Amino acid sequence: MARAAEAAGATVRAASRATGFDWTDRSTWERALRGADAAYLAHPVDVGAPGTAEAVGELARMAVGLGVRRLVLLSARGEDRALPTEEALRASGAEWTVVRAAWFAQNFSEGPLADELRRGELVFPAGEVAEPFVDVRDIAEVVVAAVGDGERYAGRTLTVTGPRLLTWREAVAEIAAATGRTLTYRPVPAHDYGEALVGFGVPAEEAAFLTGLFGTLLDGRNAHLEDGVRQVLGREPRDFSAFVAEEAAAGVWKA
Ligand SMILES: NC(=O)c1ccc[n+]([C@@H]2O[C@H](COP(=O)([O-])OP(=O)(O)OC[C@H]3O[C@@H](n4cnc5c(N)ncnc54)[C@H](OP(=O)(O)O)[C@@H]3O)[C@@H](O)[C@H]2O)c1
Repeated sequence: MARAAEAAGATVRAASRATGFDWTDRSTWERALRGADAAYLAHPVDVGAPGTAEAVGELARMAVGLGVRRLVLLSARGEDRALPTEEALRASGAEWTVVRAAWFAQNFSEGPLADELRRGELVFPAGEVAEPFVDVRDIAEVVVAAVGDGERYAGRTLTVTGPRLLTWREAVAEIAAATGRTLTYRPVPAHDYGEALVGFGVPAEEAAFLTGLFGTLLDGRNAHLEDGVRQVLGREPRDFSAFVAEEAAAGVWKA
């Protein structure tokens, strides 16, 4: 995100725990916001997680009070529980834009799914549902465009997906083909996946939230394409196969 904004000529102040900004510690917010013209908000672990709407609303009001005019929120497509967070942003008085994203392609190359793939098997509660995985670099470019052009994008909700529907099984098959490895996909019920998460040390509350989230998001409601990337950037989104080729060449999925 920061790279895309800098490439567009913006001066960027990255805000994460590494730079002293913490969503769970309100005393760290003002330093991150003061003096900025705009802010891009991405809340862990999920935009619809308990407490997120309150935190985003409070930070957005603080931002408006400090003169940060433009606020862009990263949200998720088809997620009912994200709606109160989006509403909290709209109610803040900011010049707002919401960017609703499909599942990130990079979920396969970073974090727990990448670890599983390195071990040779992806266990996930996605059944045979299809999803248009979106490259986070496309999300970043859309956000940068939205931040930079309030006249065009203020008050709008943009929905961004990749250009092609793929099941998790097909995604794993593409990674297997690109790496030359034997990789398998094992679909499991959401409830079983939640138990596995607890086993990996994820707090029970967070695991229960994620189980419920996957149970709804992966029911086929998102198995269609949207044209947000084309609308904003005037080009097709990056394809999953291009992402896979790059990450495979970088050795991300080496055993
Ligand atoms: N993953 C997807 O496919 C997807 C799709 C659509 C929308 N989204 C939305 O995108 C957002 C981010 O999702 P993600 O999957 O990237 O989440 P994530 O991996 O949990 O978090 C992303 C970043 O948040 C930072 N972070 C974690 N705790 C923090 C804290 N207390 N204060 C400040 N920063 C913190 C981390 O950086 P540091 O460790 O440096 O702090 C990390 O780089 C969520 O709201 C999610 O709903 C995700």
